[in-house]
Amino acid sequence: MPDHIPGARAALADRTALVTGAGQGIGAAVAEALAAEGAHVVATDRTADGVKALAADWAADPARWGGGAGTVTAEVMDVTDAASVEAVVAAAERAHGPLDILVNVAGILRPGPAAELTDADWADTFAVNTSGVLHTARAVTPGMAARGRGCVVTVGSNAAGVPRTGMAAYAASKAAAAMYTKCLGLELARSGVRCNVVAPGSTDTAMQRALWTDEAAPQRVIDGDPATYRTGIPLGRIAEPRDIADAVVFLASDRARHITMQELYVDGGATLR
Ligand SMILES: NC(=O)c1ccc[n+]([C@@H]2O[C@H](COP(=O)([O-])OP(=O)(O)OC[C@H]3O[C@@H](n4cnc5c(N)ncnc54)[C@H](O)[C@@H]3O)[C@@H](O)[C@H]2O)c1
Repeated sequence: MPDHIPGARAALADRTALVTGAGQGIGAAVAEALAAEGAHVVATDRTADGVKALAADWAADPARWGGGAGTVTAEVMDVTDAASVEAVVAAAERAHGPLDILVNVAGILRPGPAAELTDADWADTFAVNTSGVLHTARAVTPGMAARGRGCVVTVGSNAAGVPRTGMAAYAASKAAAAMYTKCLGLELARSGVRCNVVAPGSTDTAMQRALWTDEAAPQRVIDGDPATYRTGIPLGRIAEPRDIADAVVFLASDRARHITMQELYVDGGATLR
């Protein structure tokens, strides 16, 4: 652990990071934000197109986030497939060196009334949102522990901490992933590995837009809806992916060196926590 805590820029110089679900939305923003702080980022996703485009965009203009010392490399990795996760992690470490940072972002949302969820929707949701976190942690954190350094950030959801209508499988899967990450953090603390959770609220991505039924929908999210027992968003805006990425970068940096097993809500106050 360095005595000196680096400044805001290049806080992650020469760190190696792996991000899941980096093909679009929050994961893509996390990959870029880590690279802007100097990290060498392996951006992974279930399909190739998004991460390939991200890596190409980064290579074409690495200074557009104001930093630029880092790199972005694309890999296909389905977090539900433990063998694929092991293989991609091993290849990434051969190519870029041992991983210092793991960010679990891959997630799916299958909305529906709690008592009507199909077995497939439940199983698929847990396979990505919960078992996916186990698979990456199993592949990455033993090495971190052996080296005595590293950190894990799991992107959960504020729905893990407050009941929501139509989101039971999702909320349960995110609550499980958050508690898994905290238990992992407890077991790894003495080895110097930190594990934290970032819990976003409504964030402007494809996943969020799929829930919007008309043009007034974003304003309804901000205003709240008593019919579904939802408070609004006190800060009066929907998050941008960058808002979530900045919290991840903080928790991944040495500025958070004494923070582990925490869940940071980045939801504009929506859950009144
Ligand atoms: N957008 C929101 O309002 C919001 C709110 C709270 C939490 N979140 C969480 O943030 C994370 C990112 O969400 P987003 O809004 O950017 O969603 P998104 O749907 O835009 O992106 C999710 C990404 O995960 C990838 N993915 C899905 N299944 C995968 C798998 N099996 N293996 C690897 N990658 C897979 C997708 O291909 C996609 O690129 C998710 O975990 C989500 O649950 C989002």
